[in-house]
Amino acid sequence: MAAAGADEMVPDMAKRNTMNLLLFGSTSAVALGILGPFAFFFVPQSSGGGDGGVIAKDALGTNIQKKAYLDSHNGGSRELVQGLRGDATYLIVTEDKSDIEYYALNAVCTHLGCVVPWNKAENKFMCPCHGSQYAPTGAVVRGPAPLPLALERVEEDEAGNVVLKSWKEEDFRTGGEPWWK
Ligand code: FES
Repeated sequence: MAAAGADEMVPDMAKRNTMNLLLFGSTSAVALGILGPFAFFFVPQSSGGGDGGVIAKDALGTNIQKKAYLDSHNGGSRELVQGLRGDATYLIVTEDKSDIEYYALNAVCTHLGCVVPWNKAENKFMCPCHGSQYAPTGAVVRGPAPLPLALERVEEDEAGNVVLKSWKEEDFRTGGEPWWK
């Protein structure tokens, strides 16, 4: 009696291959579904500081429109919005109320990271954590904060939204390179 050939031992190789492919495909899909979110967790999120910047948002996550913002704020106002990386950021209205300043201030204290409130009566940013004080421009006037508040550039897009971008040029308060670059 002749020995069975390889084709006889595996009667339908094409069918087996198809089944293997389907099985591999489905397990891969499940693995991707499970591991995908974990992988995403380890990918650093965009800083939002690309050339396009981010649209400033209010506390409700609504885009801030420049005209409406100016209509509803007084000259010299410094109010928190959501800026680059989602950081609390001060938008500043010029004293004559005609415009929003070309720079915004990241509200994170450069000492140990508390959010620094604006004290209108004192005309300063005053950190409640360890007493640092900053001028209206974010320059340090009293330590222990070692550095001025980080700057963000303010622009307006075609739709009238306030856009915040990375500040890469000289820090006008120190005349030096931006420390946050
Ligand atoms: Fe602001 Fe320490 S965190 S002074």
